[in-house]
Amino acid sequence: MKLRSLSFVKFIRENLKVRDKKVLITGGLGFIGSNLAIKLLKLGAKVTLLDAMINGHGGNLFNIEAIKNNININFSDIRDKNSMNYIVRNKDYIFHLAGQNDHVLSLTNPFLDIDINIKGSAVLLEACKNFNRDVKLIYTGTRGEYGKVKQLPVSEDVPMNPKGIYELSSLTAQKLFKIYNDNQNVRSLTLRLSNIYGERAQMMHSRFGVVNWFIRLAIDNETIEVFGDGSILRDFLYVEDMVNAILMCAKCETAYGEVFNIGSDKPSSFLELAKTITDITKSNNWKFAPFSPERAAQEPGDYYSDISKIKKVVGWEPKINLEEGLKKTIEYYKKNKSKYW
Ligand SMILES: NC(=O)c1ccc[n+]([C@@H]2O[C@H](COP(=O)([O-])OP(=O)(O)OC[C@H]3O[C@@H](n4cnc5c(N)ncnc54)[C@H](O)[C@@H]3O)[C@@H](O)[C@H]2O)c1
Repeated sequence: MKLRSLSFVKFIRENLKVRDKKVLITGGLGFIGSNLAIKLLKLGAKVTLLDAMINGHGGNLFNIEAIKNNININFSDIRDKNSMNYIVRNKDYIFHLAGQNDHVLSLTNPFLDIDINIKGSAVLLEACKNFNRDVKLIYTGTRGEYGKVKQLPVSEDVPMNPKGIYELSSLTAQKLFKIYNDNQNVRSLTLRLSNIYGERAQMMHSRFGVVNWFIRLAIDNETIEVFGDGSILRDFLYVEDMVNAILMCAKCETAYGEVFNIGSDKPSSFLELAKTITDITKSNNWKFAPFSPERAAQEPGDYYSDISKIKKVVGWEPKINLEEGLKKTIEYYKKNKSKYW
């Protein structure tokens, strides 16, 4: 086990030559952005984080407590043209993780998704076009862009039928990145994420980040509600694997212009998820509950990723299984609970 992780670290170091590279992470104080920042700093990159600390999202200063003296933080909004025109300059990589990702909210207020996810991405792309065409951009979309699928596992070339505004805005943003990549010489790639869980995700509410929400309830010994009969499948992915996927793609020349599914490809049901979490926390406190009308409207059913494309092109595959990832996550939140709820 130890040997495996040591050789993996060596592999990552050799393949992710980001030492002294200047990187910008939009949404850098959020869940994935802060985990990515910590990893990039370990690898010797010069890291700038941009975040508008949007209400109800994952921005949390505690996420970067351990690295705060070694990074730059810029509290601005990706929709602010002047800020973006300035901050994109001289960067080697920009990881675009700032987004309106509350899909429940997007049902009642579509304008924030359109504004942040579409307009915000366009502001970033225009800034790169005008002030830094040498940068490489990495965008994170969502599995929700596929909508309800007919065939599992889901590969990148199936028809896209997003069911909600959040998913549609994410897909539109991805198309914008592709247009700038193909026509404006602003290079980018997209990762389409499954359900990511792990340390540093928001735990304030259940509107997004279901795995983390279950963990909060289990730690507090409150009842986890498993919607329907709990049989819906997902391929939950641990954030450390996610971060390695982002970095390996960023360094892979042939990945630019492409879209890759990122997930664990090992499906688990929501019932299995709840049971594994309550076994680890020894809380055993869960029950079945009906879907609310909003959630039923957006639920696309079973999903798990076909990750053969990223395996082939980039050489990435997940290393941490669900139980192992959940144990690490639970340990983190037990220790740092007061910083998250
Ligand atoms: N976590 C997942 O399971 C998952 C799955 C699919 C897609 N994604 C996408 O990955 C990205 C990162 O997700 P996350 O889980 O880290 O979310 P998060 O909410 O933890 O982080 C997003 C960060 O972006 C910031 N932000 C939002 N709007 C902004 C704006 N206009 N200007 C500047 N900063 C802004 C927020 O303040 C927050 O800190 C999002 O675009 C999300 O849609 C995440």
